[in-house]
Amino acid sequence: MQAAEDEVLAGLSALGLLQLGERPVLEPLGGGVSSEIWKVSTAAGDLCVKRALARLKVAAVWEAPLERSHFEAEWMRVAGEIRPDNVPELIAEDVKRHLVVMRYLPPKQYRLWKSMLRDGEADVACAVEVGRVLAAIHAATADDPAIARRFPTDAAFHAIRLEPYLEATARVHAEAAPRLMQLSAATAATRRCLVHGDVSPKNMLVGPHGPVILDAECAWFGEPAFDLAFVLNHLLLKCLWTPSASAGFLACFEALWQAYAAGVTWEPPASIDARVAALLPGLMLARIDGKSPVEYITASAQKDKVRGFTIPLLREPVGRPIEIAERWREELA
Ligand SMILES: Nc1ncnc2c1ncn2[C@@H]1O[C@H](COP(=O)(O)OP(=O)(O)O)[C@@H](O)[C@H]1O
Ligand SMILES: [Mg+2]
Repeated sequence: MQAAEDEVLAGLSALGLLQLGERPVLEPLGGGVSSEIWKVSTAAGDLCVKRALARLKVAAVWEAPLERSHFEAEWMRVAGEIRPDNVPELIAEDVKRHLVVMRYLPPKQYRLWKSMLRDGEADVACAVEVGRVLAAIHAATADDPAIARRFPTDAAFHAIRLEPYLEATARVHAEAAPRLMQLSAATAATRRCLVHGDVSPKNMLVGPHGPVILDAECAWFGEPAFDLAFVLNHLLLKCLWTPSASAGFLACFEALWQAYAAGVTWEPPASIDARVAALLPGLMLARIDGKSPVEYITASAQKDKVRGFTIPLLREPVGRPIEIAERWREELA
């Protein structure tokens, strides 16, 4: 641990963020699975420093290249120009040490979306903003070859998203395997927009100017439907975590999707509708039987509910995500 802290202080010093002789305390922040992250109070203000780990802290062995730090910083640069209120402010990057330095967002003003959802707080206005922010980032980067060149992360996206989610799940469910492998290949082959890759409630702080999207380590120039399906999936699964708020979560689902669809400028909304609806059951099943299962669904009856719901949808996909939400509502009733 000491070595890591010395490395961070050396990085901050090299970046010119510390005054001569200044040696701030590093306060570890919990919550991350793929990195070490600290609050560092310096003479120049409160910073948040994130350092990528070679091996993720999840049960299944899962390695991710350290260079993802750089793509996280790049995502902040690009997305921060498009939606400055909804992206953490990047202060500096130490490429060699795999450090990203951001402005620290204090918990008094910035609450984790995941904790709000756990407590049954289904804020439709927040969901609408998430949809708008994602659409704005996708629309502003769509079909832009200069952005595509800055995110040559196809191999990493496969290794840290498509393989552990869709392909690992294919190994567990033989009957759904061809479909899951086809979804993985189709996603990999769709290169249209700057994708965040991990739009999850645990990576979102809700503050005075709306949601702030953290943790862009999976950034990729690729399939925008992935971001939508990823976040919509969380709203479906949260209905099993906090059942009393299910109606609110499904209202958030619909509002998020509509707000996003209103911002789709680069292709007909119906075409992305179909791809989101195709991916959604795959990602949902992946959070039960893939390499990164959600920690809050542990009862086998609940797992079976998700399996029984998603496998028919993989076999016979529907055209629109809202149809999946409707069916899930019936399933939960
Ligand atoms: N700029 C920030 N200000 C304050 N807290 C932050 C900031 N960035 C991240 N965090 C906190 O640290 C946690 C982990 O950060 P994250 O970037 O998601 O790391 P990991 O890649 O390890 O998941 C977040 O859930 C959040 O609570
Ligand atoms: Mg995270």
